[in-house]
Amino acid sequence: MTAPLVYVLNGPNLNRLGSREPEIYGSQTLDNIDDLIVRQAGSLGMEVDFRQTNDEAELIGWIHEAVDRAADVVLNPAAFTHYSYAVRDACALVTSSGSRLIEIHLSNPAAREEFRHSSVIAGVATGTIAGFGSDSYLLALRALAR
Ligand code: DQA
Repeated sequence: MTAPLVYVLNGPNLNRLGSREPEIYGSQTLDNIDDLIVRQAGSLGMEVDFRQTNDEAELIGWIHEAVDRAADVVLNPAAFTHYSYAVRDACALVTSSGSRLIEIHLSNPAAREEFRHSSVIAGVATGTIAGFGSDSYLLALRALAR
C-alpha cells in the first residue's frame, strides 16, 4: 500500500523564520521545521510534500494540485489567513472533495493584533491548530494520521 500523501504548505514571509520576530515565532528556521515534519511523517507512515511561497497564485496552484492528487493539506496561510478569499476558495475545493485541510499557525493569532483575530480560511478547514510553535505542524500530522 502506498503511504498517504500530505501537502504541507506555507504562505508569505515564513521563509524568514529564524530571524523573523523570534519572540513571536521562535528561533527555528523553516528548514528545521521541514526536518521535524519529515521525521514525524516517516514514523506515522505518511509521505509529505513541504513547500513555501510568498506568491498567492503559486499557493493556490499548489492547493489545486493537492486536490488533483487527493492529498490532505496542512496549511499555514500566514497573512493570507486574514484576507485572501481566493486562498479560502481553493481550500474549500480540498474539503469539498473529501480530503482534509488543517489550518495551522505557529503563534496564536487570536491573542495578537485585532486584524489577526479573523480567519477567512477557518470556515472551510477541517480544523485549526494554533499557538504551539513548530508543534502546531506536528499536531496537525498526528490528527491526520488518526
Ligand atoms: C502566522 C500568523 C499570521 O497572522 C501571520 O501573518 C504569519 C504567521 C503564524 O504562523 O503564527 O505570517 O500564520
